Amino acid sequence: MPFIIAIDGPAASGKGTIARALAAHFGFHHLDTGLLYRATGAKGGDPVAAARSLDASDLTRPDLRSAEAGQAASRIAAIPEVRAALVDFQHRFAEQEPGAVLDGRDIGTVICPDAAVKLYVTASDQVRARRRAIELGADPDEMLAQLQERDRRDSDRASAPLKPAPDAVLLDTTHLAIPEAIALAIAQVNMVRG
Ligand code: CDP
Repeated sequence: MPFIIAIDGPAASGKGTIARALAAHFGFHHLDTGLLYRATGAKGGDPVAAARSLDASDLTRPDLRSAEAGQAASRIAAIPEVRAALVDFQHRFAEQEPGAVLDGRDIGTVICPDAAVKLYVTASDQVRARRRAIELGADPDEMLAQLQERDRRDSDRASAPLKPAPDAVLLDTTHLAIPEAIALAIAQVNMVRG
């Protein structure tokens, strides 16, 4: 049975960095599920049709990391039919040997509720805004407002809202350097793998 690591958390909390590092360390596959929603939003037109026809080439668009793509993603991500259209792809990805790391908002709660390890990665709003502002070369105050708006929408939606699974381990990266956060995540996985 493949070993599944589910990583959820709000925008720019560090979950993508941790997910990539875990996948590299353990030799697992990695899926940034946010890209599926960003690519669906970026296609334009009817979001349900866009999600149903999503293919690998849609995920390589250069503009997917922008703040605008993030906002568009969070709007279409609230539509239950969009989420349903993306479930099979995520399940198939998670079934790959020897294991997979998936990061997003609903991995531990909805997509992979039986994951061997669940992490919920957070950081203060200010720290997350600063990190994302540096990443995108944007204004920190504007980023703060955007992230808070997106987190609110993601947390308040009826379909697969952003929230920690009851059995998720919380990892607050506010005061952690990247290598420290990664080391804690690796230790958590090693505890389960034995
Ligand atoms: O990188 P960042 O955390 O800013 O965002 P992302 O993970 O790329 O996700 C972009 C948006 O897609 C989120 O704000 C969510 O609305 C949505 N999303 C989701 O609903 N479910 C997921 N599993 C992943 C992303």
